[in-house]
Amino acid sequence: MADWWDADGRRHRKQFSTSSAAREHEHRETALAHAERASREMKLAVRTGGRKTSQQKKDNGTIESAKGKLGVMIPGMGAVATTFVAGVEAIRKGLAKPIGSLTQMGTVRLGKRTDGRSPKVKEFVPIAGLDDLVFTGWDIFEDNMYEAASNAGVLDYRLLEQLKPFLSSITPRAAVFDHNYVKKIDGPNVKKGKSKMELAEQLRDDIRNFKKTSGATRLITMWCGSTESYIEPTEAHQSVKAFEKALRENDEMIAPSMMYAYASLMEGVPFANGAPNLTVDLPVMLELSRKNEAPICGKDFKTGQTLMKTVLAPAFKARLLGLSGWYSTNILGNRDGEVLDDPGSFKTKEESKLGVLEHILQPGLYPELYGNMFHKVRINYYPPRGDNKEGWDNIDIFGWLGYPMQIKVDFLCRDSILAAPIVLDLVLFLDLAHRCSELRGLGIQEWLSFYFKSPMTVPGLYPEHDLFIQLMKLKNTLRHLKGEELITHLGMEYYDCACVQRAGVAARSIPHASYNRPHGNRKPSSATAGTADPSSPVVLEP
Ligand SMILES: NC(=O)c1ccc[n+]([C@@H]2O[C@H](COP(=O)([O-])OP(=O)(O)OC[C@H]3O[C@@H](n4cnc5c(N)ncnc54)[C@H](O)[C@@H]3O)[C@@H](O)[C@H]2O)c1
Repeated sequence: MADWWDADGRRHRKQFSTSSAAREHEHRETALAHAERASREMKLAVRTGGRKTSQQKKDNGTIESAKGKLGVMIPGMGAVATTFVAGVEAIRKGLAKPIGSLTQMGTVRLGKRTDGRSPKVKEFVPIAGLDDLVFTGWDIFEDNMYEAASNAGVLDYRLLEQLKPFLSSITPRAAVFDHNYVKKIDGPNVKKGKSKMELAEQLRDDIRNFKKTSGATRLITMWCGSTESYIEPTEAHQSVKAFEKALRENDEMIAPSMMYAYASLMEGVPFANGAPNLTVDLPVMLELSRKNEAPICGKDFKTGQTLMKTVLAPAFKARLLGLSGWYSTNILGNRDGEVLDDPGSFKTKEESKLGVLEHILQPGLYPELYGNMFHKVRINYYPPRGDNKEGWDNIDIFGWLGYPMQIKVDFLCRDSILAAPIVLDLVLFLDLAHRCSELRGLGIQEWLSFYFKSPMTVPGLYPEHDLFIQLMKLKNTLRHLKGEELITHLGMEYYDCACVQRAGVAARSIPHASYNRPHGNRKPSSATAGTADPSSPVVLEP
């Protein structure tokens, strides 16, 4: 019995007296089928003047167009938010480039490596254009975006001066704030209400009001507020009913960020969480997100030190190098650093940063290599550095026969410069998810894990932290939405030219050798012998 697949991917089965006859038939038929398909594609290319030659792909689900303005609402108009908004305006004005943004500069490979199809992400999927973005925000301070950006000290004042009229026009709405959750700061621009439910209602009014005044057709909320004190989920977070009761009763376990999330999801607005707070990582928010088809994602932007960790740790595991210790320390002097100087806020951040190694290295599976590792994370507030953080890592590894080695990483980064393109991509991808019939009802958008230190998953599923797995997941999601083949990197088909030639098929007509199994030294079948030109090279790109 032998199976073979025709050019349209249909499976066929045939009975043979010997297994070698079966294999011979299988190879010949498959090679013929691919040659046939290649020839069909070439004819089509001639007819269509060289445009796309493969079969028309069918999208999975529908994606509504990105017509109209996209309103971006940001609780927390600090360093990250202002660097993002100023950056978008600078790019719109042609003053700078969107470096670091996958949606703006990234490409996605389609089909075989030999196909030469790598469109830009923004041309492949219908994401909103930068010109369509409009902004609003909330903050406990009254500074407009220009003043807040100047205070943050991230961007050069000469650039900010050129953006001043635009940035000054974005003034903060009064915030919902609770000093118990962010102990190091206090400000005057805060809403008042008898209950947390009343405050959440005021946020919902803000959202409706912004939609009306800005003329936006769609909205996104992006939490860029300070890191709140560490708490664990309670009964109040388990369902919408319990949460609403807790809002009415002023339950202290409801943090301000949760009220923004509740208000957004109630208004059907997607919500992304850039901080490590629980916020949307709660059963109540998943319930609301699914019910109102407003996608959610989080937590904690993956920018500097953790980005490096999720690149290096997979390399150690890939090479089965052991790890005995990883000591990470940071110095930073911006307001975020000041907030994180409080033990409650630091604990929230620490939890988010610590989870990464455990999940990547899987000590349960590799006890001799990772069963006894010591992992420590410190963040030190050091004002002279401002937003220019230094993330320093000492890594103790061991190799063959247990011999120890050390690696030192010293990343002198700019926190908000790394975070701003992440914010942009999240805004655009979350809006895409919201317009996509296949994604909008899922709740958590795990394909956006790429951007987070502590990616959200449905309960019971461990998160993927490896940066390259996350990127593959993201790009495969885009391919899937557009009905393109997923890329598995199996790649055996590239090594099939010998089979194709032996089968006697005109190898030159095959733009890429497409067959799925290398095989031994077999003679060509008489049925097809003589039609191939064995001297003609089949060019196989790496
Ligand atoms: N690379 C990065 O910069 C990075 C990386 C990962 C996560 N984060 C997180 O992103 C968030 C923003 O970082 P940042 O550097 O812009 O901090 P920041 O201190 O400059 O800005 C935070 C702003 O949030 C405001 N705020 C606090 N509570 C609020 C509330 N309840 N409502 C409205 N506004 C509120 C503060 O007044 C402040 O202006 C922080 O939680 C930080 O931990 C930043």
